[in-house]
Amino acid sequence: MTNSSILVTGGAGFIGSFLIEELLQHSPARIIILDNLIRGSLDNISSFKDNPTIDFVEGDIRDAALLEKCVAGVDYVFHTAALRINACAADPAAGFEVMLKSTFNLAELCVKYKVKKVVYSSSASVYGLAQHFPTPETDNPYNNQTFYGSAKLWGEQLFRSYNFMYGLDYVALRYFNVYGPRMDTDGKYTEVMIRWLDCIKDGTAPLIYGDGSTTMDFVYVRDVAKANIAALVADVTDETFNIGNGRETSLKELLEILLSVNDSDLVPEFRDENTVNPVSRRLADNRKAVQLLKFEPSIALEKGLKELSEWYFEKKKLTAVSI
Ligand SMILES: NC(=O)c1ccc[n+]([C@@H]2O[C@H](COP(=O)([O-])OP(=O)(O)OC[C@H]3O[C@@H](n4cnc5c(N)ncnc54)[C@H](O)[C@@H]3O)[C@@H](O)[C@H]2O)c1
Repeated sequence: MTNSSILVTGGAGFIGSFLIEELLQHSPARIIILDNLIRGSLDNISSFKDNPTIDFVEGDIRDAALLEKCVAGVDYVFHTAALRINACAADPAAGFEVMLKSTFNLAELCVKYKVKKVVYSSSASVYGLAQHFPTPETDNPYNNQTFYGSAKLWGEQLFRSYNFMYGLDYVALRYFNVYGPRMDTDGKYTEVMIRWLDCIKDGTAPLIYGDGSTTMDFVYVRDVAKANIAALVADVTDETFNIGNGRETSLKELLEILLSVNDSDLVPEFRDENTVNPVSRRLADNRKAVQLLKFEPSIALEKGLKELSEWYFEKKKLTAVSI
C-alpha cells in the first residue's frame, strides 16, 4: 500500500472513515474519497480531511464521468458506498442506481484502468435467515428476501465474473452487525443501540420489541476497518469472507451489557413486535477470514460498547453546548 493511490467510495461514512484512518498508517501516496454525504459527514473525516494525502471529492457514484475521474490512475479501490437496507426498500429504483448500476460502472472502470485489487463491502444480509449457525460462507443465499441483500449478492457475483472474464482481483467482505463511534445518531434509520443510548441519556425505559431473543453478531467498526486492510494485503483474490465477531448476542443481552457499561439501572419495557423480522439469528463462522486473511476481531462487545457510549455522550455534550 505504501506510495499507492487508493479510492474509497463512501469514505465519509461510518465504516469508510475508520478504514481511511487505518489506511493512513500505511503511508499511501494518495487517498481519494468519493462521497455524496447522503449519510456520511465532514465531521466523520475531520481528523484527516486536511491531510495532504487526502483528496475529498463531494459527489455521487451515479455520476459516471466523475467516477471515471476518480478511478483513473488509482491502484486500489475500496467500494463501501451504498444505501442502507431500509433505504433500498423505501426506494428500490434508487437502490438499483446506487447498488447495481454504479457498481457495474465501477467494475468496468477498474478493468479499463487496470486497478490492482478491489475490496467490496458486502453484507451478511445475503444469507437472509441462514441455514447453519455459525454460518459459513458456503451457506446458500436463497433465504434472502431483501432488495439490499440481493444487490450485495449481485455485486459479489459481478466482481466474480469480472475476475473470471478480465482477471480483475477482488475480495468481498460480508460484514455482520457493525457498531461503534460515528454510527448514525439521528438519521431516519438509526440503530437500536443509539435509541437505547438516547433512553439512558434521558432516563427513560429502553424499549424492546418482541421478547428480545433475536440474536446478532456485533463486530466493532475498527475491526471491520482492519479486515479491509487484511483483505487488500493478503495474497487472496476471488474470495468472499464473513466479517463478524463469532459471538451470538441476543438483543436482551445487548441491552444488559449496554446498561451495565453505563452503570444504568433502567428496566426495559417489552412491546409487541410491530414488524415481522425474518432474520431471527445471526452468527458468523469466522474461520475462513482467520485462515486466509489472518484477520481476527480483537474488540470484545463490552469494550466496544464502552467506547461507543463514551463517543455518544461526548457528541451529545458538544451538541448541547453548540445549541
Ligand atoms: N454498518 C453495518 O452494519 C453494515 C453491515 C453490512 C454491510 N455494510 C456495508 O458497509 C458499507 C459501509 O456501510 P456504513 O455502515 O459505513 O454506511 P454509511 O451509510 O455510513 O456509509 C456509506 C457511505 O456511502 C455514501 N454514499 C451513499 N450513496 C452514495 C452515492 N450515490 N454516491 C456517493 N456516496 C454515497 C454515504 O454518504 C455514506 O458516507 C456499505 O456498503 C454497507 O452496505 C454495513
